Amino acid sequence: MKLGAFLWATGHHIAAWRHPHAHVTAGIDINHYIQLARTAEAAKFDLLFCEDAAGLREANVGIASQTSRSIGFEPISLLSALAVQTSRIGLVSTASTSYNEPYGLARTFLSLDHLSGGRAGWNLVTSASHIEAANFGATGLRPHADRYERAREFAEVVTGLWRDTPGQASGSGHDGQSFSVRDPLDLPPSPQGAPVMVQAGASDVGRDLAARTADVVFTAAQTFEEAKAFYDDLKGRLAAYGREPDDIKIMPGVAPVVAATEAEAQAKYEELQELIPDDVGVALLSSYLSISDLGRYPIDGPLPELPESEGMKSRQALVIEQSRRDNLSIRQLARHFAGARGHWRIVGTPVQIADELQARFEGGAADGFNVMPSYFPGELDAFAALVVPELQRRGLFRTDYEGHTLREHLGLKRPAWT
Ligand SMILES: Cc1cc2nc3c(=O)[nH]c(=O)nc-3n(C[C@H](O)[C@H](O)[C@H](O)COP(=O)(O)O)c2cc1C
Repeated sequence: MKLGAFLWATGHHIAAWRHPHAHVTAGIDINHYIQLARTAEAAKFDLLFCEDAAGLREANVGIASQTSRSIGFEPISLLSALAVQTSRIGLVSTASTSYNEPYGLARTFLSLDHLSGGRAGWNLVTSASHIEAANFGATGLRPHADRYERAREFAEVVTGLWRDTPGQASGSGHDGQSFSVRDPLDLPPSPQGAPVMVQAGASDVGRDLAARTADVVFTAAQTFEEAKAFYDDLKGRLAAYGREPDDIKIMPGVAPVVAATEAEAQAKYEELQELIPDDVGVALLSSYLSISDLGRYPIDGPLPELPESEGMKSRQALVIEQSRRDNLSIRQLARHFAGARGHWRIVGTPVQIADELQARFEGGAADGFNVMPSYFPGELDAFAALVVPELQRRGLFRTDYEGHTLREHLGLKRPAWT
């Protein structure tokens, strides 16, 4: 079983910053992140994962300032600092294909790869936020299909640059629809062949791009059936690109709340849920549904009919599906999504959590999980101290690193060209 530690300022629960044990300025405290990285590495996690959006996550500054994610470092800079404070754990950062150029990103990730001894990964996202678009001179989001077409060419150029480093250069360059690149990078080839390619989009076109380019896929799935359907669909797409099912590791997000007893875990979860202001919960839900203001509908009424999003298609579908399946009001949905943003949540004892993870892993619905602690450092500490040993006892998780590079941890082949 593969495990990622998904870092995020004060925590993944939207009200984490209000928790009595939260570290409110965690987002800009390097010592806080060093401590988290060391905890995850001591627990033998495969990787640290950082999300990103170059802008506020919420449309309204008043709302943004009441969430656990309003301040934080640019993640590649953060991971570069963590690279020298750790020695084995993988370092995966998100970076957008919509607001970068491939030459620059290829160079940045290959640099991170060299300075960490082959531990870098790039989480390719197309960026679905209007707020982010406005910070890059755009008046709105480009259509979903256009963003993915640019992402496809972007990934092709980046992998070409990682392949054609000096000494190996074919000298072909790239002259395409969106990008033109003349020379190879000013760096030698990656210690792990190429940085690991990660992807988090889950729409039809997103899945195709992942099948073509990704080594790891992060996804959000609530039920076993959803996770299994996604897993089978994505693995099934690989053959079309001459790849094998094991060439991609699928790691859905999971937000555990763990304690020695079930009652204690439930109380911990309820304590966080009580801290969510309604307007913050509803604003968060609006952003995942790509609608400007859900606040104008009655909070105890059902979700209105919504047009299909040009933002996060897969996440919008997931929210709508859950609202219909469980017959939830806007308030109930908002509270539900504030905890883990649509990811799978498990509240329970170490044995209960290990049982659930084992069932999805052995049931062919996941190769591992991207762990999203509700608040830091408390919930990461609890997962490392209570759940990891239980997984190790069951022979599901390593007791020590087998290799040195991220590719080795994940059991991924080096690219064919190395
Ligand atoms: C686990 C996970 C992490 C993600 N992290 C980011 C992120 O850091 N930044 C971002 O812009 N989008 C992130 N996304 C969103 C996706 O990359 C993608 O943009 C979105 O799902 C829209 O693509 P889709 O319509 O193909 O699903 C993440 C999605 C998932 C499932």
